[in-house]
Amino acid sequence: MKKLVANTPLDHMTRTINKPPALLGTIIPPGDKSISHRAAIFNAIANGTATITNYSAGKDCASTVTVLRALGAHIKRVDNPNARNSTLTIEGNGPDGLTEPEDVLDAGNSGTTMRMIAGLVAGQSFMSVITGDDSLRNRPMGRIVAPLKIMGSEIHARGQSTRAPLVFTGGDLQGIKYEMPVPSGQLKSCLSLAGLRAKGPSTIIQPARSRDHTERMLIAMGADLSIDELTFTIRPGILNATDVDVPGDISSAAFWLVAAVCHPNAEIHLPGVGVNPTRIGALTILKKMGADISLYNHRESAGEPIADIVARSSSLQGTEIGGDIVPLLLDEIPVLAVAAAMATGTTQITNAAELRVKESDRIEATANWLTKAGVECEESDDGLAIHGMGSISGGAFDSRGDHRIAMALGTVGLVAEGPVLINDSEVAAISYPTFWSDLSQIIDGNAS
Ligand code: S3P
Repeated sequence: MKKLVANTPLDHMTRTINKPPALLGTIIPPGDKSISHRAAIFNAIANGTATITNYSAGKDCASTVTVLRALGAHIKRVDNPNARNSTLTIEGNGPDGLTEPEDVLDAGNSGTTMRMIAGLVAGQSFMSVITGDDSLRNRPMGRIVAPLKIMGSEIHARGQSTRAPLVFTGGDLQGIKYEMPVPSGQLKSCLSLAGLRAKGPSTIIQPARSRDHTERMLIAMGADLSIDELTFTIRPGILNATDVDVPGDISSAAFWLVAAVCHPNAEIHLPGVGVNPTRIGALTILKKMGADISLYNHRESAGEPIADIVARSSSLQGTEIGGDIVPLLLDEIPVLAVAAAMATGTTQITNAAELRVKESDRIEATANWLTKAGVECEESDDGLAIHGMGSISGGAFDSRGDHRIAMALGTVGLVAEGPVLINDSEVAAISYPTFWSDLSQIIDGNAS
């Protein structure tokens, strides 16, 4: 029998996936990446001790722990043998307890680490430098540097203050009234952290809704934060250490949701997934496309809504993805493109220019694999039109060193007519270290 997932021995980074006859089973997605970062950072500057369970085992969240420790945070991490999550015990340093790092802080591939830590160190009295890998050093940092400077932070950065490494030499922060130029969870979290140390209130006005984990967690930890639709005001103050049981990551679950609804013989169960309304844009779109997806057993943990999800084989139609829903599904667009290709009719994606400044240019990367896979598409500045024909051909594809592109291509392998080869597939570990073993298990029908 043909092996459905193979590692080429001479090049372990290239992986081959063949469409299996069925996709049946249960997958427990890893802890949510966004909530994990926030739980670690906020508790590191809180008063008291907190335990974070189901902390994402992805490399991005490991970067946050490394950087926080370099800033003097007391974090004990116990990795779960299932490689899916860790438990952190954080003895909070309090609002003034961080110390000057001895070396450059390395955020690796993680935009959330860099932008949130920038907000944390912007108002400290010590010097710190934060850098990252090739991808991160090329991503836009002007969006955080500009408002932090207005607040009074001394910052130097490459590319006329737009690119990392970022050098912080402290500053007495003032409150700010700031209209964000982009709807960004990372930017508002950065400014919230700076606002906690500022003199006076900071009012942040968002152009559209983006993920609100920061607002929820800060309120749960006792911050003085008031929200009025798209505007919120945060006042300086102290956080109380708070235990967080991190929900499963809907952005990781999305690969299995799309695989299930695109495969002709599939039923995949995903227990314990975070279904925060600011994260479920992909569920809304997939349902609009005709996907058979149900949510049940709704509950709440650490102020975040959670549900169990089941997705089954479906027949999909093309749709429109644009406007205010885009920030609620931006990370899922690479895998929604798989659903669009497997649908009949055109899916038009607009207002998604932010995708060009993620870990890779995800519009270009997606258009590239779609074309290679025989799917007609047209790229535009802020999106993509995908003309779905209900099938995708196999081939050799480039992950661009981007975790979400690699995993979207893994999903392609589960539904394409022919083998799918993916280079640099191990990059999935940035957010989802067990992605490929979960994929093998779901192929064998015994995922648990
Ligand atoms: C994140 C926010 C999003 C998302 C990223 C994680 C966060 O970016 O793409 O993967 O944890 O705040 P934006 O800052 O563009 O919203």
